[in-house]
Amino acid sequence: MYINFRRYYLFCQSIDFYSYRAKIKIDMNKNKKIIFSGVQPSGNLHIGNYLGAISQWVKMQEDFTCIFCVVDYHAITVKQDPKILREKIIDIAKIYIASGIDPKKSIIFKQSDIKEHTELAWVLNCTSARMSDLNKMTQFKDKAGKNQENVGVGLFDYPVLMAADILLYDTDIVPVGDDQLQHVELTRTLARRFNDRFGQTFKIPEARLQKVGARIMGLDDPTKKMSKSAKSELNYIALTDDPAKAKKKIMKATTDSDGRVKYDPKNKPGISNLMTIYSLLENTEIGVIEERYIGKGYGDFKKDLAEVVAEYLTNFQKTYYNITNTEIEKILKKGAKKLQPTATDLMDLIKKKIGSL
Ligand code: TYM
Repeated sequence: MYINFRRYYLFCQSIDFYSYRAKIKIDMNKNKKIIFSGVQPSGNLHIGNYLGAISQWVKMQEDFTCIFCVVDYHAITVKQDPKILREKIIDIAKIYIASGIDPKKSIIFKQSDIKEHTELAWVLNCTSARMSDLNKMTQFKDKAGKNQENVGVGLFDYPVLMAADILLYDTDIVPVGDDQLQHVELTRTLARRFNDRFGQTFKIPEARLQKVGARIMGLDDPTKKMSKSAKSELNYIALTDDPAKAKKKIMKATTDSDGRVKYDPKNKPGISNLMTIYSLLENTEIGVIEERYIGKGYGDFKKDLAEVVAEYLTNFQKTYYNITNTEIEKILKKGAKKLQPTATDLMDLIKKKIGSL
């Protein structure tokens, strides 16, 4: 049945048939658009990751075929302790589930369980990616710093592996925070270049950003994004932070000396960032928050936000601490098993196109 389907599929190469292939394999009963996204198992996952990316995913589960990956091969582009990496992989999957990703509705898997990710990345390296593309990547420049000569090649090539992740499953939409936009743009470029040279093969995916919250800023420095690799713990609220500790971080967050609770990201980045967090966690319009705090100061606002954050973390952690490692291992294996035929199928097609098969 599978072989026949593949033959028919190859026969239909000239028809725009590709977008249906992954849908049919991954999700036999529904004709939904495909979502793909992922998080690196490194550092401490924070409310920026949740509000910018994962909370979008949770909402998409009903209407899309969702695939969420733990991208361990991306994490090793910088030095990792193997023992900690192993724990973090499980941890990220727990965070997905505690955030509201339902493994019955969405596919959750580990990147390195499907070898076609790295295989496709290599093909894209050779056929589609150029040094000039990768030289433009701002995240590489930020991560490599001034010492570019001595960083690993993997860090430079990181966006090509991300493109492979996305293209392998005929993804329609990639929900991410705005720091990943450039990588999704590159994915589109690589897909188009391959299609131009070898004929229609890849679907061209689109990034999807939150209207509010696509870039949550650091609490200690609201001019830079909240980052899981930040040097100071005061930069972020980790999803696993003790709620009492998180409250203190909110109270210490950098604001300005103006004192008015007014949304103005350009001139008042600190308070505006806190208002964004409040608005998203409490599902309240920014305008409503502004009105609520007319005549009140930052102290009152921060106290209330600290409570909202603590409540969110308490609820999140109730689920997080109740999921066992064994459950997660099963979910990850099941996810990879479900995706493997789609990955094999596309790689076979690509090998045919480039002349390896
Ligand atoms: P990563 O692990 O750095 O971040 C995971 C997700 O969180 C978002 N994010 C933020 N959103 C709002 N405010 C912030 N301060 C903030 N910090 C991080 C990121 O934009 C991301 O959506 N390259 C990716 C992982 C990846 C991937 C993929 C994503 C690998 N393959 C394929 C999508 C599709 C990364 O390093 O994300």
